[in-house]
Amino acid sequence: MFSFQIKNKQVGITENDILKALGKVEEPDLKKDLVTLGMIKDISIDGNNVSFTVLLTTPACPLKELIKQRCLDAIHAELGKNIDVSIKMHAEVTSIRNANPQLPGVKNIIAISSGKGGVGKSTVTANLAIALKESGAKVGILDADIYGPSIPLMFGAEDLQPLISNQDGKNKISPIHQYGIKMISIGFLTPADSAVVWRGPMASQALRQFLGDVDWGDLDYLLIDLPPGTSDIHLSLVQTVPVTGAVVVTTPQKVALADASKGMAMFRQPQINVPILGIVENMAYFTPLELPANKYYLFGEGGGKQMAEKSGVPFLGEIPLVQGIREGGDSGRPATMEKNNIISEIFDQVASALAQQVAIRNANSPETERVVVS
Ligand SMILES: Nc1ncnc2c1ncn2[C@@H]1O[C@H](COP(=O)(O)OP(=O)(O)OP(=O)(O)O)[C@@H](O)[C@H]1O
Ligand SMILES: [Mg+2]
Repeated sequence: MFSFQIKNKQVGITENDILKALGKVEEPDLKKDLVTLGMIKDISIDGNNVSFTVLLTTPACPLKELIKQRCLDAIHAELGKNIDVSIKMHAEVTSIRNANPQLPGVKNIIAISSGKGGVGKSTVTANLAIALKESGAKVGILDADIYGPSIPLMFGAEDLQPLISNQDGKNKISPIHQYGIKMISIGFLTPADSAVVWRGPMASQALRQFLGDVDWGDLDYLLIDLPPGTSDIHLSLVQTVPVTGAVVVTTPQKVALADASKGMAMFRQPQINVPILGIVENMAYFTPLELPANKYYLFGEGGGKQMAEKSGVPFLGEIPLVQGIREGGDSGRPATMEKNNIISEIFDQVASALAQQVAIRNANSPETERVVVS
């Protein structure tokens, strides 16, 4: 329950008047009004000056300006045009996780998956992490690709090593901090060329340690960069923690789409039942950075979007094939860190779409059950 403060109440407008007006503003995604959703806080009234805070479900909310405008319009429509309204927009990422003994500070665990290898999961994970962080969210990346970790290279962090300390007789690993993101990868713990010897149970054990022994602290979003396909790692993930939802990355190519469908089917199996937050179409078209209006559909057009429509899952957006995205990954600085170009704009949009789907999922469904194998 929220408590509403009235600082300087005068005869005239009351807190109830304001709540009544704002009760007519619907949150476009959640389809309920802002008051019912508990999104209005800190109402203050001083004569004709009214101020309050709108508590959004994510700092990456794409509807921020729209919601603000509708609040303003509602107050003016209900209480008169002469009211001077000041609205603060503040965000608190939602979570449906119960008090879980594992990762208690992590609000949302998001698996980034694909059917086919090499479609850009790690690239998308790295750039989405930066875009979400820059929106104001606390973000972590768990590189679950034990056989072929990419995250250390993509973040220019190959030479960094996490600190391991002993807390109450248990080893605790401090994640690497790079560009404002917490991250862990097998690549930080073993020499680059030795990762290939990790197999089956050892790989699953490593993943469980990354979930259980890493000191993740408070995070709004923990992105899990998965290996391709459907592996032991996927199964270990859903057995170890309740996954908020999965993102499926695909290219528009037929072979990639067919594999993406299989990947999606795995998450949707009744005994696994991880919601699909959406599909990202990567390498949707080639575009030269200096001529962004020119689009060349090398792998076919619109396949990811059509797949999303057919399978009834959200489409989070298309990412073009741009030389700068590849270069960003190879040089250890995700391309979206360079601002004011088409790349960062596109990743910002996809990050907002993802954050929006997480909020919708959290508002509408209970926590994902951890999979128990009997
Ligand atoms: N949109 C893009 N534009 C240009 N290059 C890209 C794009 N997306 C990915 N790449 C490049 O394609 C290659 C494969 O990408 P990435 O490693 O992210 O794929 P992946 O799905 O994680 O692969 P794996 O299945 O091996 O884990 C990388 O060299 C990356 O830089
Ligand atoms: Mg990868």
